[in-house]
Amino acid sequence: MVQPASRVRGRVRPPGDKSISHRYALLAAVADGTSTIHGYSTGGDCASTLRCLRGLGVDIRQTDNAGESGLTITIAGRGLRGLTPPEAMLDAGNSGSTIRMLSGLLAAHPFRTSITGDASLRRRPMRRIIAPLEQMGARIASDEGRPPLVVEGSRDLTAIDFAPDVPSAQVKSAVLLAGLHAEGTTRVREPLPTRDHTERALRLFGATVRTSDGAIALTGGQHLAARTLAVPGDLSSAAFWMVAAAALPDSEVVIEDVGLNPTRMGIVRVLERAGARIDTLRSDGSDEPAGTLRIRRGELRDLVVAPEEVPDVIDELPVLAALATHGGSIAVSGAQELRVKESDRISALADGLRRMGADIEEQPDGFHVRATRRLRGGDVDARNDHRLAMAFAVAALGASGPTSIHDAGAAAVSYPEFFSVLESLRA
Ligand code: S3P
Repeated sequence: MVQPASRVRGRVRPPGDKSISHRYALLAAVADGTSTIHGYSTGGDCASTLRCLRGLGVDIRQTDNAGESGLTITIAGRGLRGLTPPEAMLDAGNSGSTIRMLSGLLAAHPFRTSITGDASLRRRPMRRIIAPLEQMGARIASDEGRPPLVVEGSRDLTAIDFAPDVPSAQVKSAVLLAGLHAEGTTRVREPLPTRDHTERALRLFGATVRTSDGAIALTGGQHLAARTLAVPGDLSSAAFWMVAAAALPDSEVVIEDVGLNPTRMGIVRVLERAGARIDTLRSDGSDEPAGTLRIRRGELRDLVVAPEEVPDVIDELPVLAALATHGGSIAVSGAQELRVKESDRISALADGLRRMGADIEEQPDGFHVRATRRLRGGDVDARNDHRLAMAFAVAALGASGPTSIHDAGAAAVSYPEFFSVLESLRA
């Protein structure tokens, strides 16, 4: 149950970046030597990656409790092709990143692995990784292109030149992780640039990755060296507080130690366009760019998010819809990928925000929200989707009455501390 708030103020260190945590764990598992990862995400999705890796013979230890800046874990790398056959089916839970990127690694391991997930994951499209990984030499059985997957890897993968139809960092990463084990140079040409954490992580673990002529190129057979790395806070989790601060009068939120990778900064650009006042207080050159952001409210303006911009804000579109319930408007197009996320986010957003009293129009590839009236609050269903649970909570802050969010516990897959942080910011 979320009560309206007059403002939000305070400092937040968001949980470790989910995308980066998955990648450091997967690469550490096939590196030579023992890696230490500080600030590993406390979310359920990143725990799913560790659970699957343990099922493949990887020794992973948690050496520190989750402090404010996440978990510290050590991963004993097994070297290239060093994973061992699992005794049981692996469970990727709610995590598309886990099942897709892990399939890329398993494509190079000459045994069979079955991977499933929760009801949401079992509805998500996998042909986008099955086709290129089979072209490289793996065999993958599925339930009409959906999980469970049975990946039968091959010792003799061949490099491919691959141009995916959809801009997807998970697809790019699955192909690159297979390409790390393939004969020859694998190239991925994306229709639009997507987050580059895999390319950066491969370099941090010692591989050479080249980007030229719009293609990302990786030559197979490069051994990775164990590393000690720190994961910055997750900008996609911080986005909920950034939007709340941009929307509510007299608000100011400082986000500390948050990842500022340029391929993730769409939310900062879009919020500035919407009228938010954002300062980058400090920027550190760590393993990934990171720094501190301060967000204050400005006069909210109408927003248009164009198709080319969608990959940069794909995970923030639900909370940007919530922003437009506070003031201004938002029109999003070219975002049909939202329909195959943890839920059909276009239909679920339209349904939930409308129940709270919003003026939202659903389109096949996007939505249009106008702040024509104040929300009254209501009963909404997050459909077991973490980003919807948190986006509805941000919309609820501006309503005239309380909002009850079903499946709000879904927030824990990326941000277990979300609702307690919300209480501290409104206090
Ligand atoms: C992610 C890529 C995006 C994003 C997801 C995380 C990643 O998915 O929505 O939350 O870590 O690579 P797609 O690759 O399906 O676009």
